[in-house]
Amino acid sequence: MKGTVPPLGKDLVGLEGLSTEQIRGILDTAEPFKEISDRRVKKVPVLRGKTIVNLFFEPSTRTRVSFEFAEKRLSADTVNIASSGSSVVKGETLVDTARNLEAMSIDMVVMRHPSSGAARFLAERIPSNVVNAGDGQHEHPTQALLDLLTIRDHRGTIAGLKVCIVGDVLHSRVARSNIHGLLALGAEVGVCGPRTLLPFGIAELGVEVFDRVEDAIAWADVLNILRLQLERMEGGFVPSLREYNRHFGVSRSRLEAAPRDILILHPGPMNRGVEIDSDVADGEHSVILNQVTNGVAVRMAVLYLLAGGAPDRAEAAKQGQ
Ligand code: CP
Repeated sequence: MKGTVPPLGKDLVGLEGLSTEQIRGILDTAEPFKEISDRRVKKVPVLRGKTIVNLFFEPSTRTRVSFEFAEKRLSADTVNIASSGSSVVKGETLVDTARNLEAMSIDMVVMRHPSSGAARFLAERIPSNVVNAGDGQHEHPTQALLDLLTIRDHRGTIAGLKVCIVGDVLHSRVARSNIHGLLALGAEVGVCGPRTLLPFGIAELGVEVFDRVEDAIAWADVLNILRLQLERMEGGFVPSLREYNRHFGVSRSRLEAAPRDILILHPGPMNRGVEIDSDVADGEHSVILNQVTNGVAVRMAVLYLLAGGAPDRAEAAKQGQ
């Protein structure tokens, strides 16, 4: 694999349409970047001279900070823009905002936006590289990549594993990106949740559908537990949070009934006591903070590859050459 990552193109909008080799290539490129975050001086000159704008139109803790660390550790110059402090609140369009930024000679835009399709819309209209940091209910590709890397770290492979995504799949861009990435790397994928929170026809994507979380736990090697996205619900999807927890919450007692050692992932932010109990989130099966750590290396890899890199150069960067 080394030195042979097929080019990703100008942008990373989603994992749908990426080949197995491209996805595996991003994960392999992330490997040598992991160690940079453990150094005393956490910096390599790979993106020196590049200017990256982080344009966040929705709240974010993990993704925004992780991209900023990734950019700074690659020596890029970064600017952070939140919609609340920008001319978007005065009615400026997305394209006008981006064109004005481009007039100041930027190279890349990392964007989170509440509308599905916003990342592709922007990518088709500006010459800078665009990286999707989550667009509406569409995709969150770097989250899925860091999930894949974390599973691979702990299980050695993705192919042949049974991975079940539990919770609010309907509103989840994380679920969509995970399904594309997991299937591309040869995993079996399941989804589990109340039917009101599963997209109609989801089985046509090639996933197994579970109505009972107990059945999902009996089947799976890995659970990726999703937050109930209350901000995207206008009501009526679940009777109450307590009811949801009673039927679909991942608890220690439910995990103890599992026939095997299950890996627990959650993209965050968590609703403790709703989709996941605290003793599971903080327990011995949880790799939730490993996901966050891997996010920096994965984002370094994505930025590096979009800027025209290749894994052998990543290795050289690691060695400070
Ligand atoms: N996982 C994730 O996207 O978290 P943030 O919303 O905090 O970025």
